[in-house]
Formats: sequence, structure tokens, C-alpha cells
Amino acid sequence: MRIGNTEIKHGLCLSPMAGFTDLPMRRQCRRFGAEYTVTEMVSAAALCYRDRKTADLAYLTEDDAPCAVQLFGHDPEQMARAAAMIASGEYEGCRSHVPPAAIDINMGCPVKKIVTAGDGSALMRSPELVRDLTRAAVRAAEKHHIPVTVKIRAGWDGDHKNAVEIALAATSAGASAVCVHGRTREQLYRPGVDLDVIAAVRDALPAHIPVIGNGDVRDAASYREMISKTGCDGVAVGRAALGNPWVFAEIRAALAGESFTPPTEKDRRREALHLARAIVAEHGDHTAARECRGRVAHFLTGMRGAAAMRGRIQSADSLGEIEAILGTPMGEK
Ligand SMILES: Cc1cc2nc3c(=O)[nH]c(=O)nc-3n(C[C@H](O)[C@H](O)[C@H](O)COP(=O)(O)O)c2cc1C
Repeated sequence: MRIGNTEIKHGLCLSPMAGFTDLPMRRQCRRFGAEYTVTEMVSAAALCYRDRKTADLAYLTEDDAPCAVQLFGHDPEQMARAAAMIASGEYEGCRSHVPPAAIDINMGCPVKKIVTAGDGSALMRSPELVRDLTRAAVRAAEKHHIPVTVKIRAGWDGDHKNAVEIALAATSAGASAVCVHGRTREQLYRPGVDLDVIAAVRDALPAHIPVIGNGDVRDAASYREMISKTGCDGVAVGRAALGNPWVFAEIRAALAGESFTPPTEKDRRREALHLARAIVAEHGDHTAARECRGRVAHFLTGMRGAAAMRGRIQSADSLGEIEAILGTPMGEK
């Protein structure tokens, strides 16, 4: 599939996840075969208020391209300003080395605080606002030749599955691609992804606008099911990639008709350490080590002695402690 000038051969994307898809995780998933990544969601309002931490969330590097920056907000004027900042790289605290592959607008976040503010999946209830918000971002970003994409849900709830209407509103305002999470806001993240809704969006949009299917893709079989049942052009993998970048290797192997060897315990420990070290290098030591406890623990799922190791990791205060628990001395790569 193609988003703007970016060719994404297999359409294999890492889905944005706040608190997780920072640069270290995006780089790691890319090493295993993810082709397109998206930052954590970035507040358009906070960017406009020149919040330094917010600027850091949008940090882009050559070795993690193509990567889109995801913005959330509901005010078209603010969205336009934030989109212009991200597209041009002209904002306080910008450290990016490369332009974003796209600006993605979050229309799916179900978190109460976000929805109450009118952001995220609250937008699913306002097709007109979706049009205005998207148009504002498109106009601001096109001056810098950056496309705008949207990430939506199936709808607000079972009685309001309006993904097609929202996708049409966004694309009529110039969105270049649509990612559809096949659940409603009401469903949050529970099972039961509605592949028919994703298929309906694919059918409704012109062929040149890629549709990315999302929801519960966790291996080659669920990837194939998503593609065959919806006709989508690409797939975004979210939670299955937590502690498991091999999900991309498995899907890539299936696409190449090759067999896939699941990671060994040693592989898991190695990649957990790699991520912990990258997080600490990126975000600084003390608090970063604490913050990455849960992220490291994801790698232990299914491993012998995982519960005990997880318990020890939960009280680790430094990278050294995490390294010791995972069984590799400091300094060893
Ligand atoms: C912890 C967490 C954080 C998330 N943060 C974002 C976000 O910042 N932006 C977004 O568009 N979706 C976000 N999502 C939704 C995922 O991108 C994805 O749509 C959802 O998890 C369904 O895909 P999956 O079944 O492959 O996980 C988040 C999901 C989780 C579990």
C-alpha cells in the first residue's frame, strides 16, 4: 500500500499505543519486520502550548522511518497549528532528524478523560467535526507535502456503527488512509473484532485510499484472516507486539512462504534486555528503569519461572537490577 509518497510493501504496521510505542519499541519491532510505525498519541493542544515532554513524544529518527506522528485533539484551529508544527519540524524542543511519513489523527481512544474532553473516539459521534478537523490538518500539512491519515473505531456503540460515514467524512476532507479498529468505543478492547465493518469501509472508499485493518491480529493466521475477510490493504498490530516483536517476523515469514521459528527463552531475555537498555538510554536511568518494569515483564509471558521473575522485576530500581534478574551481566550485549 502507499500513503502519500511512502510505499509500504506488505502493509505491516505497528499500531500506536500510548506508554509503549516509543522510539525504543518502534525500532525493536522494525528490526523484526514492522514496516510502518506510529508514535504514541501526542496532544495537539500541548504541542501548541510548547510542552517539552510532548515534543519528545514526536521525536523521529532515520532508523525508524517511515513513522507517522499521531495527534489527538478536537479543535480544528489547534489541530492545524499542531499539524503545521509536526509537518515542518518547527516547534520548540523538536529533535527530529526526519519528517513524519504522515500525521495521523486519533479518533479511537476510548479513555474517559480523553473522550470527555471531546477527543479520541468522541469524534466518532461528530462526522462534521471529523471533516473540519481533518481538513484543517490536511491544509496545514500539505504545504509541507505530508499526508494526513485517521485512525477510527467501528463506531461509538453497537447501535451506532458508523465507521463508513466517518471514513467518508475524513477522506472527503483529504485523509490519505484510514485505519479501522473493528471495535466500538463501548467494547474498549474486549474480543469480538467486527471484520465486516472493516470490509464495509474498504468497499466504501476509493481504491487508491488504503484501509488498514486493526484488532486482535496476533499471528500469521489472524493476519491472513484480517486480509481475506476484509480486503484491507494493510494490518496494524497492537497488543500482540507487547513483549513479542517476533509477531512481525512470523507474519513476514508467512508472507515469504517461509517457516517461522518461535523465540527461545534466551531470545526473550535478550530482547527484553535490549528494550530495557534502549528505554533507559532514551529516557534516562532512574525513573526510566522503573517505567520499563512492566514492559520488560511482557517478554516473560509463558516462560518457566515467569511469575517469580516478574515479581523481582516489579521491585527493580535500576537497569543493573533488571539486567541481573534477566541473567545477563551489565555491559554484555
Ligand atoms: C495500552 C494501549 C495504548 C493505546 N494507545 C493508543 C494510542 O495512543 N493511539 C491509538 O490510536 N490507539 C491506541 N491504542 C489502540 C491500539 O492502537 C489498537 O487499536 C488496539 O489495541 C486494537 O488492536 P490490537 O487488538 O492489535 O491490540 C492503544 C491500545 C492499548 C492497549
